Amino acid sequence: RLASLSGLQAGLLKLSVVTTAKYFFPHLLGPFCQRYPNIEVNFNIGNRNSMVNRLRENKDDFYVFSHPPEDIDIETFEFIKNPLVVVAPSNHRLSGKKNIKFSQLAAEPFIMREPGSGTRYSIEKYLLQSGNSINEKMTIESNEAIKHSVMSGLGLSILSVHTLALERNAEIEILDVKGFPMLYHWYVVYLRNKKLSDVAKTFLEYLENEGAQIAGNLLVNSPAANYI
Ligand code: PGA
Repeated sequence: RLASLSGLQAGLLKLSVVTTAKYFFPHLLGPFCQRYPNIEVNFNIGNRNSMVNRLRENKDDFYVFSHPPEDIDIETFEFIKNPLVVVAPSNHRLSGKKNIKFSQLAAEPFIMREPGSGTRYSIEKYLLQSGNSINEKMTIESNEAIKHSVMSGLGLSILSVHTLALERNAEIEILDVKGFPMLYHWYVVYLRNKKLSDVAKTFLEYLENEGAQIAGNLLVNSPAANYI
């Protein structure tokens, strides 16, 4: 594999990440772009379905998913953990309780991501496998709006801990529910038959060597720290 140490590398790097990866992935770009100031980056964000469509159409060099599609010929590189947790407003009757059973949440209104979201896909898989169900009250296309809705008392949700990385306030908290966190991983994905540019190879090597550490550091001192 090519390991270019030259700051003179130039070209365009095209990336597409799912909305939930937008919390850590941009932090990887800062150090990379400082090292290679002549590399330009095109960065797309969308839900899982729209990113799978971009992958199918060969629009970008790399994609980030926690559920890489199984019907496309791809290479995957497992990157870091993606734990999903149950979140509630901090004044919730169950906050601070230990070992809550999922069935105790049956009557709680839940706020869910939209169909096409990888987060929703994870939750549906969990419900199917565990035989649990939830009372879905609201669907929102944005992790940020879900967090604010949870804080305002509209309901509970299940989110990736990465969405809480910068949360420093006490209005939202992670409930200690049996079976959680649900543990998934982030994958960097590219088409197997794609000829990677030198710029893309350099970026992949950077991710492999340094990416996990930079992404992990972001969660230190956050409510997510114990889950990584
Ligand atoms: P999402 O994807 O942003 O579409 O919910 C997250 C994931 O793939 O886990």
